[in-house]
Amino acid sequence: MEVIVKQTYAEMSAEAAKEIAAVINQKPNAVLGLATGSTPLALYQHLVRMHKEEGLDFSQCTTFNLDEYVGLPPGHDQSYHYFMHENLFKHINIPRHNIHIPSGTTSNYAAFCAWYEKRIEEVGGIDVQVLGIGSDGHIAFNEPGSSLASRTRLKTLAKVTIDDNARFFKSAKDVPIYAITMGVGTILEARKLVLVANGKKKADAVAQMIEGPVTSMITASALQLHPDARVFLDSEAAAKLKMREYYDWIQEHKPNAPQV
Ligand code: PGA
Repeated sequence: MEVIVKQTYAEMSAEAAKEIAAVINQKPNAVLGLATGSTPLALYQHLVRMHKEEGLDFSQCTTFNLDEYVGLPPGHDQSYHYFMHENLFKHINIPRHNIHIPSGTTSNYAAFCAWYEKRIEEVGGIDVQVLGIGSDGHIAFNEPGSSLASRTRLKTLAKVTIDDNARFFKSAKDVPIYAITMGVGTILEARKLVLVANGKKKADAVAQMIEGPVTSMITASALQLHPDARVFLDSEAAAKLKMREYYDWIQEHKPNAPQV
């Protein structure tokens, strides 16, 4: 796992966006795994700017989102369909039929989840997966106790996640209790992982993800099992890392390392 700590949220987001853009520039028909939440917002703004100013081209890209709330139709302003459309898709040249987001309103969740997994496989797998981390250490909606081998499925949200996300709804009572989410096993199959986290509220979960044991109690710790996982943090989210100096040392010496 590579840990990249930047002073601010803005710097951290710019760095993470470069990582995604590099994948697209190298492979124009890249398959992108995308995340919602407050954290990747600035990353998406950078991708939009790169599209408008630098010609970053999404016309051959395919996307798969991590999750969606059960019961929210795509037009609901708190659905992840709506979030993605407003914050990324409507600003870039991604063909509509290349976009995949789990359905929160299917009549058959098991069949939908199986289809979603099959679609990922059919397009050759995900090249780079964007991730956030919950304050309970979740990735996507893989709450504590989720199997590290889990696949796309229906999941009951943890109370802490409902409380964290209540800020977007009128009250915690309006937050859906169920979600459809890619599994940890699904996520680990992406060829590259880019996780972003900022703010002191994430410091504990970030420390456990990077320096704690691999455990289904902190599903983000599964990133330790991935051969190409990059974690981009601001200084507040990195505040509880014991090995912070070493991570900075690695980044400092990276430019002069022998090319592999
Ligand atoms: P946030 O959500 O970016 O809104 O903090 C992260 C997550 O729950 O994965």
